[in-house]
Amino acid sequence: MKYLPLFALTIGLIGGANAETLTRDNGALVGDNQNAQTAGENGGNLLQDVHLIQKLQRFARERIPERVVHARGTGVHGEFVATADLSDLTRAAVFERGSKTPVFVRFSTVIHSKGSPETLRDPRGFATKFYTEEGNWDLVGNNLPVFFIRDAIKFPDMVHSLKPSPVTNQQDPNRFFDFFSHVPEASHMLSWVYSDYGTPANLRQMDGWGVHAYKFVNDKGEVSYVKFHWKTRQGIKNLTAEQAAEIQSRDFSHATRDMYAAIEKGDYPKWDLFIKVLKPSQLSRFNYNPLDATKMWLDVKETQVGTMTLNRVPTNFFQETEQSAFAPANLVPGIEPSEDRLLQGRVFSYSDTQMYRLGANHQQLPINRPRVAVSNWNQDGGGNYGQQTSDVNYQPSRIDARNEDPKGLYSRKPLTGSTQQKAIEKTLPFAQAGVFYRSLSPEERQNLVENLAGDLGKVRDSNTQHLMLSYFYQADKEYGQRLTKAVGGDLGRVKKLAR
Ligand code: HEM
Repeated sequence: MKYLPLFALTIGLIGGANAETLTRDNGALVGDNQNAQTAGENGGNLLQDVHLIQKLQRFARERIPERVVHARGTGVHGEFVATADLSDLTRAAVFERGSKTPVFVRFSTVIHSKGSPETLRDPRGFATKFYTEEGNWDLVGNNLPVFFIRDAIKFPDMVHSLKPSPVTNQQDPNRFFDFFSHVPEASHMLSWVYSDYGTPANLRQMDGWGVHAYKFVNDKGEVSYVKFHWKTRQGIKNLTAEQAAEIQSRDFSHATRDMYAAIEKGDYPKWDLFIKVLKPSQLSRFNYNPLDATKMWLDVKETQVGTMTLNRVPTNFFQETEQSAFAPANLVPGIEPSEDRLLQGRVFSYSDTQMYRLGANHQQLPINRPRVAVSNWNQDGGGNYGQQTSDVNYQPSRIDARNEDPKGLYSRKPLTGSTQQKAIEKTLPFAQAGVFYRSLSPEERQNLVENLAGDLGKVRDSNTQHLMLSYFYQADKEYGQRLTKAVGGDLGRVKKLAR
């Protein structure tokens, strides 16, 4: 709470909400904001016109790098209430029954730029920052339960293939299916993305998924593996490709507009948080690896543990949404990363990109700042306005004794084997894509086939096209046959590749 008054003061002065007179950035009065200083009637402009110069300089510096992915987004404030007693699983205070935690959620699309339409086929980001009494916990998830890849080393290649070409600046199925034809495990996520779930109707009527397994650690240091699932209370609603195209023809911001309108009329959206839990000894029980982000834990039951209500939109989009920084590394005691190889890469990547995008002190920005005192000797750097007043900037010290607390210790994990670079063993690349296909209604299956065939049909390299078809065929024969027919492929070749 220590920092809140400073935040309020900063907004009051810099935001200018209460100011009656224009000032320059140094606080000095502006005498004329209509006419620049010139040398007489017909002379040039004067270098001493610091107001004009400052206006032009500040204008030219308004943009910061956009997020390298998830650039297009909308943020909303709210509250999370824990409703279950999870003390046997985790010592995290955010999950003490009845505890209330302020949250900030940013929803996003993944691939295209900051100004792109919100209707595009894409996963939707669903990132939640919990300002807990033990520091910030960020649950950085998506609206789909799995991911395309399972190893962080593939992420830059995957994103390069999905982003517009460096040559033509156009997104091209020839490029991303060339990549995905080498990644059979992506067929599960691709099936979700090309179904109507890839075009949710708005941000309120979709679920959120943590995707990875995390670890819960209780007071005794006992570890459980946990997956998180936000279930919308508004009911899931998706768009067909035709509906999405129709909306896109008249509105690039339909989802933001819908969220702001709902909040303005007091129709606050809510999500219930569910968890699935596995003991470490249960991880080996499945025909897939439960720490593989391309897999759902289909046969594990879910328990409800809390509810989130979103009830306030930002007062300034740039400050509260563009400058928000979510990171899977922002964890609190009682919640730890699992050994999921994708998550391990994410734990590094977000804070790293944010140091580039927002600067080394981005966690001091009001939207990112923990609601508890921050006490360490990380210092200086661009944009620092921390509270360091001691000349002891090292630890340990007898002069300023700030100690560690064993409550912050990580859990222990026994290790065996050697260092390695090796794929996981239980890959099961297609089975869950088939389960997903069969879970859809006849109309949803038809839409999936049409959407996927639309892009697969553009692939010129017939090896790539047939390999992709063989993956969907291995997921479900009917799925593969319908796709092959829709793109005019050779079913015999698909079956041969599927062997
Ligand atoms: C944003 C990297 C996988 C969800 C980002 C950003 C990076 C990144 C660099 C931009 C962050 C920023 O500028 O603030 C990665 C890497 C991944 C990965 C390296 C895999 C190794 C995933 C997965 C999910 C996900 C599996 C979902 C479970 C998000 C979301 C955002 C994001 C929601 C936007 C956060 C916001 O609203 O600011 N990712 N990502 N990412 N990523 Fe990932």
